[in-house]
Amino acid sequence: MDSLRMIRIFDTTLRDGEQSPGASMNVEEKVMVAKQLARLGVDVIEAGFAYSSPGDFEAVRRIANEVEGPTICSLARARPEDIDRAWEALKGAPKVRIHTFLSTSDIHLKHQFRMTRAEAKRRAVEMVHHARSYVEDVEFSPMDASRSDPEYLYEVIEAVIAAGAGTVNIPDTVGYAVPWEFGGLIRGIRERVPNSAQAVISVHCHNDLGLAVANSLAAILEGAGQVECTINGIGERAGNTSLEEIVMGLRTRRAFYGADTRVNTEEILKASRLVSKITGMIVQPNKAIVGANAFAHASGIHQDGLLKDKTTYEIMRPESIGLVDSKMVMGKLSGRHAFRQRLEELGYRLSDEELNQAFERFKRLADQKKDIYEEDLESIVSDELAKIAE
Ligand code: KIV
Ligand code: ZN
Repeated sequence: MDSLRMIRIFDTTLRDGEQSPGASMNVEEKVMVAKQLARLGVDVIEAGFAYSSPGDFEAVRRIANEVEGPTICSLARARPEDIDRAWEALKGAPKVRIHTFLSTSDIHLKHQFRMTRAEAKRRAVEMVHHARSYVEDVEFSPMDASRSDPEYLYEVIEAVIAAGAGTVNIPDTVGYAVPWEFGGLIRGIRERVPNSAQAVISVHCHNDLGLAVANSLAAILEGAGQVECTINGIGERAGNTSLEEIVMGLRTRRAFYGADTRVNTEEILKASRLVSKITGMIVQPNKAIVGANAFAHASGIHQDGLLKDKTTYEIMRPESIGLVDSKMVMGKLSGRHAFRQRLEELGYRLSDEELNQAFERFKRLADQKKDIYEEDLESIVSDELAKIAE
Protein backbone atom coordinates (compact mmCIF):
# COMPACT_ATOMS: atom_id res chain seq x y z
CA MET A 1 0.00 0.00 0.00
CA ASP A 2 1.28 3.50 -0.85
CA SER A 3 2.02 5.64 2.20
CA LEU A 4 -1.09 6.72 4.07
CA ARG A 5 -1.92 10.29 4.99
CA MET A 6 -2.44 10.61 8.73
CA ILE A 7 -5.62 12.56 9.43
CA ARG A 8 -5.61 14.52 12.69
CA ILE A 9 -8.46 13.80 15.03
CA PHE A 10 -9.64 16.91 16.87
CA ASP A 11 -12.09 15.82 19.54
CA THR A 12 -14.69 18.39 20.59
CA THR A 13 -16.82 16.19 22.86
CA LEU A 14 -16.06 18.51 25.78
CA ARG A 15 -16.98 21.68 23.87
CA ASP A 16 -19.40 21.17 20.96
CA GLY A 17 -20.48 17.77 22.33
CA GLU A 18 -21.37 19.37 25.61
CA GLN A 19 -23.65 21.76 23.70
CA SER A 20 -26.07 18.82 23.27
CA PRO A 21 -29.19 19.61 25.23
CA GLY A 22 -28.86 17.80 28.56
CA ALA A 23 -25.23 16.73 28.07
CA SER A 24 -23.49 19.12 30.41
CA MET A 25 -20.62 17.69 32.45
CA ASN A 26 -18.95 18.91 35.61
CA VAL A 27 -15.23 19.59 35.84
CA GLU A 28 -14.37 16.21 37.35
CA GLU A 29 -16.32 14.40 34.63
CA LYS A 30 -14.62 16.43 31.92
CA VAL A 31 -11.19 15.54 33.26
CA MET A 32 -12.21 11.87 33.27
CA VAL A 33 -13.35 12.05 29.64
CA ALA A 34 -10.20 13.94 28.63
CA LYS A 35 -8.01 11.22 30.16
CA GLN A 36 -9.90 8.60 28.16
CA LEU A 37 -9.48 10.72 25.00
CA ALA A 38 -5.74 10.73 25.69
CA ARG A 39 -5.77 6.91 25.97
CA LEU A 40 -7.67 6.85 22.70
CA GLY A 41 -4.80 8.82 21.17
CA VAL A 42 -6.69 11.76 19.67
CA ASP A 43 -4.41 14.53 18.39
CA VAL A 44 -6.26 17.52 19.86
CA ILE A 45 -8.75 17.83 22.73
CA GLU A 46 -10.97 20.91 22.61
CA ALA A 47 -11.42 21.05 26.36
CA GLY A 48 -14.01 23.82 26.44
CA PHE A 49 -14.73 27.48 25.86
CA ALA A 50 -12.74 29.11 28.66
CA TYR A 51 -14.47 32.51 28.52
CA SER A 52 -17.98 31.07 28.64
CA SER A 53 -18.17 30.25 32.36
CA PRO A 54 -15.98 29.75 35.44
CA GLY A 55 -16.71 25.99 35.19
CA ASP A 56 -15.52 25.83 31.60
CA PHE A 57 -12.41 27.85 32.47
CA GLU A 58 -11.61 25.46 35.31
CA ALA A 59 -12.18 22.40 33.11
CA VAL A 60 -9.81 23.74 30.43
CA ARG A 61 -7.24 24.66 33.12
CA ARG A 62 -7.40 21.26 34.83
CA ILE A 63 -7.20 19.35 31.54
CA ALA A 64 -4.28 21.51 30.40
CA ASN A 65 -2.45 20.71 33.63
CA GLU A 66 -3.40 17.07 34.10
CA VAL A 67 -3.85 15.40 30.71
CA GLU A 68 -0.75 14.26 28.84
CA GLY A 69 -0.38 13.47 25.17
CA PRO A 70 -2.78 15.44 22.99
CA THR A 71 -2.64 19.16 22.25
CA ILE A 72 -5.13 20.94 24.52
CA CYS A 73 -7.30 23.61 22.93
CA SER A 74 -9.83 26.20 24.03
CA LEU A 75 -12.43 27.85 21.85
CA ALA A 76 -12.51 31.67 21.82
CA ARG A 77 -14.73 34.09 19.94
CA ALA A 78 -12.84 36.60 17.80
CA ARG A 79 -12.56 38.99 20.73
CA PRO A 80 -9.40 39.90 22.67
CA GLU A 81 -10.95 39.14 26.07
CA ASP A 82 -11.96 35.63 24.92
CA ILE A 83 -8.48 34.92 23.59
CA ASP A 84 -6.81 36.24 26.76
CA ARG A 85 -9.00 33.97 28.88
CA ALA A 86 -8.28 30.96 26.67
CA TRP A 87 -4.54 31.52 27.10
CA GLU A 88 -4.95 31.97 30.87
CA ALA A 89 -6.66 28.57 31.08
CA LEU A 90 -4.29 26.77 28.71
CA LYS A 91 -0.88 28.00 29.75
CA GLY A 92 -0.04 25.00 31.97
CA ALA A 93 -0.03 22.53 29.06
CA PRO A 94 3.03 21.60 27.02
CA LYS A 95 1.10 21.62 23.72
CA VAL A 96 -1.67 24.21 23.35
CA ARG A 97 -3.90 25.62 20.66
CA ILE A 98 -6.25 28.60 20.60
CA HIS A 99 -9.23 28.12 18.31
CA THR A 100 -10.89 31.37 17.35
CA PHE A 101 -13.87 31.81 15.06
CA LEU A 102 -16.07 34.33 13.29
CA SER A 103 -18.81 33.83 10.74
CA THR A 104 -18.26 34.45 7.06
CA SER A 105 -21.80 33.87 5.74
CA ASP A 106 -23.85 36.91 4.84
CA ILE A 107 -26.76 35.47 6.83
CA HIS A 108 -24.71 35.47 10.03
CA LEU A 109 -22.85 38.71 9.35
CA LYS A 110 -26.05 40.61 8.65
CA HIS A 111 -28.42 39.19 11.26
CA GLN A 112 -26.14 38.10 14.08
CA PHE A 113 -22.83 39.95 13.99
CA ARG A 114 -24.03 43.10 12.22
CA MET A 115 -20.70 43.46 10.47
CA THR A 116 -19.69 44.03 6.88
CA ARG A 117 -17.55 41.47 5.08
CA ALA A 118 -14.57 43.83 5.25
CA GLU A 119 -14.97 44.33 9.01
CA ALA A 120 -15.24 40.59 9.61
CA LYS A 121 -12.11 39.85 7.59
CA ARG A 122 -10.16 42.57 9.42
CA ARG A 123 -11.33 41.28 12.81
CA ALA A 124 -10.43 37.69 11.91
CA VAL A 125 -6.89 38.72 10.95
CA GLU A 126 -6.44 40.85 14.08
CA MET A 127 -7.61 38.06 16.35
CA VAL A 128 -5.36 35.47 14.72
CA HIS A 129 -2.46 37.89 15.31
CA HIS A 130 -3.58 38.35 18.90
CA ALA A 131 -3.78 34.59 19.50
CA ARG A 132 -0.35 34.17 17.88
CA SER A 133 1.07 36.58 20.44
CA TYR A 134 0.41 33.82 23.00
CA VAL A 135 0.79 30.54 21.11
CA GLU A 136 2.30 29.15 17.91
CA ASP A 137 -0.65 26.88 17.23
CA VAL A 138 -3.71 28.89 16.19
CA GLU A 139 -6.82 27.58 14.49
CA PHE A 140 -9.35 29.81 12.78
CA SER A 141 -12.91 28.79 11.83
CA PRO A 142 -14.99 30.81 9.37
CA MET A 143 -18.30 29.83 10.94
CA ASP A 144 -21.13 28.85 8.56
CA ALA A 145 -18.49 28.38 5.84
CA SER A 146 -20.69 26.04 3.81
CA ARG A 147 -23.28 28.83 3.37
CA SER A 148 -20.71 31.55 2.69
CA ASP A 149 -19.89 33.06 -0.69
CA PRO A 150 -16.87 30.92 -1.70
CA GLU A 151 -14.98 33.88 -3.19
CA TYR A 152 -15.19 35.80 0.11
CA LEU A 153 -14.40 32.63 2.07
CA TYR A 154 -11.20 32.12 0.02
CA GLU A 155 -10.17 35.73 0.76
CA VAL A 156 -10.66 35.30 4.50
CA ILE A 157 -8.81 31.99 4.51
CA GLU A 158 -5.85 33.47 2.65
CA ALA A 159 -5.74 36.40 5.07
CA VAL A 160 -5.87 34.32 8.27
CA ILE A 161 -3.19 31.93 7.00
CA ALA A 162 -1.00 34.95 6.20
CA ALA A 163 -1.68 36.18 9.76
CA GLY A 164 -0.38 32.89 11.20
CA ALA A 165 -3.27 30.41 11.48
CA GLY A 166 -1.72 26.94 11.10
CA THR A 167 -5.13 25.25 10.87
CA VAL A 168 -8.18 26.59 9.06
CA ASN A 169 -11.31 24.73 10.01
CA ILE A 170 -14.27 24.69 7.61
CA PRO A 171 -17.51 24.29 9.55
CA ASP A 172 -20.77 23.09 8.09
CA THR A 173 -22.35 24.79 11.07
CA VAL A 174 -25.96 23.98 10.33
CA GLY A 175 -25.45 20.58 8.65
CA TYR A 176 -26.61 21.91 5.28
CA ALA A 177 -23.90 20.56 2.97
CA VAL A 178 -23.99 17.38 0.91
CA PRO A 179 -20.85 15.31 0.33
CA TRP A 180 -20.13 16.17 -3.34
CA GLU A 181 -20.63 19.85 -2.64
CA PHE A 182 -18.63 19.86 0.60
CA GLY A 183 -15.78 17.91 -1.02
CA GLY A 184 -15.87 20.50 -3.84
CA LEU A 185 -15.59 23.33 -1.32
CA ILE A 186 -12.42 21.80 0.12
CA ARG A 187 -11.04 21.25 -3.39
CA GLY A 188 -11.85 24.91 -4.18
CA ILE A 189 -9.90 26.05 -1.11
CA ARG A 190 -6.91 23.91 -2.08
CA GLU A 191 -6.98 25.20 -5.66
CA ARG A 192 -7.97 28.82 -5.19
CA VAL A 193 -6.31 29.94 -1.95
CA PRO A 194 -2.68 30.56 -2.95
CA ASN A 195 -1.17 29.92 0.51
CA SER A 196 -3.53 27.02 1.47
CA ALA A 197 -0.66 24.50 1.52
CA GLN A 198 0.82 26.39 4.50
CA ALA A 199 -2.11 25.36 6.72
CA VAL A 200 -3.92 22.19 7.64
CA ILE A 201 -7.47 22.33 6.27
CA SER A 202 -9.82 20.93 8.87
CA VAL A 203 -13.53 20.13 8.67
CA HIS A 204 -16.27 20.39 11.29
CA CYS A 205 -19.60 18.94 10.22
CA HIS A 206 -22.99 18.88 11.88
CA ASN A 207 -25.46 16.09 11.37
CA ASP A 208 -28.77 17.86 10.71
CA LEU A 209 -29.30 15.87 7.51
CA GLY A 210 -27.46 12.78 8.76
CA LEU A 211 -24.45 13.55 6.55
CA ALA A 212 -21.75 14.71 8.98
CA VAL A 213 -19.56 11.62 8.57
CA ALA A 214 -20.12 11.41 4.80
CA ASN A 215 -19.26 15.11 4.39
CA SER A 216 -16.10 14.68 6.47
CA LEU A 217 -15.01 11.67 4.39
CA ALA A 218 -15.67 13.56 1.15
CA ALA A 219 -13.49 16.37 2.50
CA ILE A 220 -10.68 13.94 3.33
CA LEU A 221 -10.72 12.70 -0.26
CA GLU A 222 -10.18 16.32 -1.32
CA GLY A 223 -7.24 16.90 0.99
CA ALA A 224 -8.63 17.83 4.41
CA GLY A 225 -6.05 16.91 7.02
CA GLN A 226 -8.05 17.23 10.25
CA VAL A 227 -11.54 16.15 11.25
CA GLU A 228 -13.41 17.61 14.21
CA CYS A 229 -15.68 15.10 15.85
CA THR A 230 -17.24 13.90 19.09
CA ILE A 231 -17.66 10.59 20.89
CA ASN A 232 -21.03 9.03 19.99
CA GLY A 233 -21.56 12.00 17.63
CA ILE A 234 -23.08 14.10 20.41
CA GLY A 235 -23.39 17.83 19.83
CA GLU A 236 -25.62 20.78 19.08
CA ARG A 237 -29.03 19.69 17.62
CA ALA A 238 -28.51 16.44 15.66
CA GLY A 239 -24.88 16.33 16.72
CA ASN A 240 -21.43 16.37 15.16
CA THR A 241 -19.35 13.95 13.11
CA SER A 242 -19.04 10.81 15.18
CA LEU A 243 -15.43 10.04 16.13
CA GLU A 244 -15.90 6.28 16.13
CA GLU A 245 -17.50 6.29 12.68
CA ILE A 246 -14.89 8.46 11.02
CA VAL A 247 -12.00 6.59 12.65
CA MET A 248 -13.32 3.10 11.87
CA GLY A 249 -14.41 4.22 8.40
CA LEU A 250 -10.85 5.22 7.63
CA ARG A 251 -9.27 2.22 9.35
CA THR A 252 -11.54 -0.28 7.60
CA ARG A 253 -11.30 1.36 4.14
CA ARG A 254 -7.88 2.96 4.40
CA ALA A 255 -6.74 1.61 1.04
CA PHE A 256 -9.68 3.42 -0.56
CA TYR A 257 -9.16 6.71 1.28
CA GLY A 258 -5.37 6.52 1.28
CA ALA A 259 -5.66 7.81 4.83
CA ASP A 260 -5.83 6.66 8.44
CA THR A 261 -5.59 8.14 11.94
CA ARG A 262 -3.34 7.49 14.93
CA VAL A 263 -6.29 6.51 17.12
CA ASN A 264 -5.91 3.48 19.33
CA THR A 265 -9.26 1.99 18.29
CA GLU A 266 -9.35 -0.63 21.08
CA GLU A 267 -10.26 2.26 23.43
CA ILE A 268 -13.33 3.31 21.41
CA LEU A 269 -15.96 1.32 23.27
CA LYS A 270 -14.70 2.44 26.68
CA ALA A 271 -14.84 6.07 25.51
CA SER A 272 -18.35 5.63 24.14
CA ARG A 273 -19.64 4.02 27.35
CA LEU A 274 -17.98 6.62 29.56
CA VAL A 275 -19.50 9.56 27.64
CA SER A 276 -22.90 7.89 27.56
CA LYS A 277 -22.80 7.19 31.29
CA ILE A 278 -21.67 10.67 32.24
CA THR A 279 -24.06 12.58 29.95
CA GLY A 280 -26.98 10.18 30.33
CA MET A 281 -27.29 10.16 26.53
CA ILE A 282 -28.13 6.62 25.57
CA VAL A 283 -26.49 5.21 22.43
CA GLN A 284 -29.12 3.90 20.03
CA PRO A 285 -28.79 0.08 19.63
CA ASN A 286 -28.26 0.27 15.86
CA LYS A 287 -25.66 3.05 16.06
CA ALA A 288 -22.70 2.21 13.81
CA ILE A 289 -19.59 0.89 15.62
CA VAL A 290 -20.70 1.36 19.25
CA GLY A 291 -24.41 0.47 19.31
CA ALA A 292 -25.37 -2.69 21.24
CA ASN A 293 -26.36 -4.35 17.94
CA ALA A 294 -23.37 -3.23 15.90
CA PHE A 295 -21.72 -6.64 16.30
CA ALA A 296 -24.85 -8.73 17.02
CA HIS A 297 -26.16 -11.22 14.50
CA ALA A 298 -29.74 -12.48 14.50
CA SER A 299 -30.30 -14.04 11.09
CA GLY A 300 -29.78 -17.80 10.89
CA ILE A 301 -28.01 -17.45 7.55
CA HIS A 302 -25.62 -14.87 8.94
CA GLN A 303 -25.00 -16.88 12.11
CA ASP A 304 -24.20 -19.95 10.04
CA GLY A 305 -21.78 -17.94 7.88
CA LEU A 306 -20.05 -16.43 10.91
CA LEU A 307 -19.56 -19.80 12.54
CA LYS A 308 -17.76 -20.91 9.38
CA ASP A 309 -15.74 -17.73 8.93
CA LYS A 310 -16.13 -14.35 10.62
CA THR A 311 -15.37 -12.40 7.45
CA THR A 312 -18.61 -13.63 5.87
CA TYR A 313 -20.65 -11.00 7.71
CA GLU A 314 -18.19 -8.86 9.67
CA ILE A 315 -16.15 -6.08 8.06
CA MET A 316 -14.44 -5.16 11.33
CA ARG A 317 -13.25 -7.33 14.20
CA PRO A 318 -15.21 -6.56 17.40
CA GLU A 319 -11.89 -6.67 19.30
CA SER A 320 -10.70 -3.73 17.20
CA ILE A 321 -13.05 -1.39 19.09
CA GLY A 322 -12.50 -3.11 22.45
CA LEU A 323 -15.45 -5.52 22.37
CA VAL A 324 -14.65 -9.07 23.51
CA ASP A 325 -16.56 -10.82 20.73
CA SER A 326 -19.51 -10.48 18.41
CA LYS A 327 -22.87 -11.65 19.71
CA MET A 328 -25.18 -14.31 18.28
CA VAL A 329 -28.72 -13.34 19.16
CA MET A 330 -30.81 -16.45 19.78
CA GLY A 331 -34.25 -15.98 18.25
CA LYS A 332 -36.68 -17.32 15.70
CA LEU A 333 -34.25 -16.73 12.83
CA SER A 334 -31.40 -18.70 14.40
CA GLY A 335 -30.36 -21.93 12.75
CA ARG A 336 -29.51 -25.35 14.20
CA HIS A 337 -25.78 -24.71 13.83
CA ALA A 338 -25.84 -21.55 15.97
CA PHE A 339 -28.18 -23.22 18.47
CA ARG A 340 -25.80 -26.14 18.91
CA GLN A 341 -22.85 -23.78 19.30
CA ARG A 342 -24.63 -21.70 21.97
CA LEU A 343 -25.57 -24.82 23.94
CA GLU A 344 -21.97 -26.00 23.76
CA GLU A 345 -20.83 -22.64 25.13
CA LEU A 346 -23.27 -23.18 27.99
CA GLY A 347 -21.73 -26.62 28.60
CA TYR A 348 -24.33 -28.90 26.94
CA ARG A 349 -23.26 -31.53 24.40
CA LEU A 350 -26.39 -33.16 22.99
CA SER A 351 -26.76 -36.11 20.66
CA ASP A 352 -28.32 -35.39 17.25
CA GLU A 353 -31.65 -36.76 18.47
CA GLU A 354 -31.60 -34.63 21.64
CA LEU A 355 -30.57 -31.60 19.68
CA ASN A 356 -33.46 -32.05 17.21
CA GLN A 357 -36.00 -32.19 20.03
CA ALA A 358 -34.52 -29.22 21.85
CA PHE A 359 -34.30 -27.20 18.64
CA GLU A 360 -37.99 -27.75 17.87
CA ARG A 361 -38.96 -26.49 21.33
CA PHE A 362 -36.62 -23.56 20.99
CA LYS A 363 -38.26 -22.56 17.68
CA ARG A 364 -41.75 -22.78 19.21
CA LEU A 365 -40.67 -20.62 22.14
CA ALA A 366 -38.90 -18.11 19.87
CA ASP A 367 -42.14 -17.59 17.95
CA GLN A 368 -43.85 -16.48 21.14
CA LYS A 369 -41.09 -14.63 22.93
CA LYS A 370 -39.06 -11.66 21.72
CA ASP A 371 -35.93 -12.30 23.76
CA ILE A 372 -34.55 -15.74 24.42
CA TYR A 373 -32.28 -15.72 27.45
CA GLU A 374 -29.67 -18.17 28.66
CA GLU A 375 -32.17 -19.38 31.27
CA ASP A 376 -34.67 -20.21 28.50
CA LEU A 377 -32.09 -22.33 26.71
CA GLU A 378 -31.13 -24.06 29.93
CA SER A 379 -34.72 -24.84 30.75
CA ILE A 380 -35.35 -26.26 27.25
CA VAL A 381 -32.31 -28.51 27.49
CA SER A 382 -32.99 -29.76 31.00
CA ASP A 383 -36.65 -30.54 30.10
CA GLU A 384 -35.56 -32.46 27.02
CA LEU A 385 -32.89 -34.38 28.90
CA ALA A 386 -35.40 -35.21 31.66
CA LYS A 387 -37.90 -36.49 29.08
CA ILE A 388 -35.33 -38.73 27.53
CA ALA A 389 -34.28 -40.10 30.94
CA GLU A 390 -37.91 -41.05 31.81
O1 KIV B 1 -20.41 24.50 14.26
C1 KIV B 1 -19.58 25.44 14.29
O2 KIV B 1 -19.49 26.28 13.38
C2 KIV B 1 -18.72 25.53 15.45
C3 KIV B 1 -17.59 26.51 15.37
C4 KIV B 1 -17.40 27.23 16.64
C5 KIV B 1 -16.34 25.81 14.91
O3 KIV B 1 -18.86 24.79 16.39
ZN1 ZN C 1 -20.07 23.03 15.78
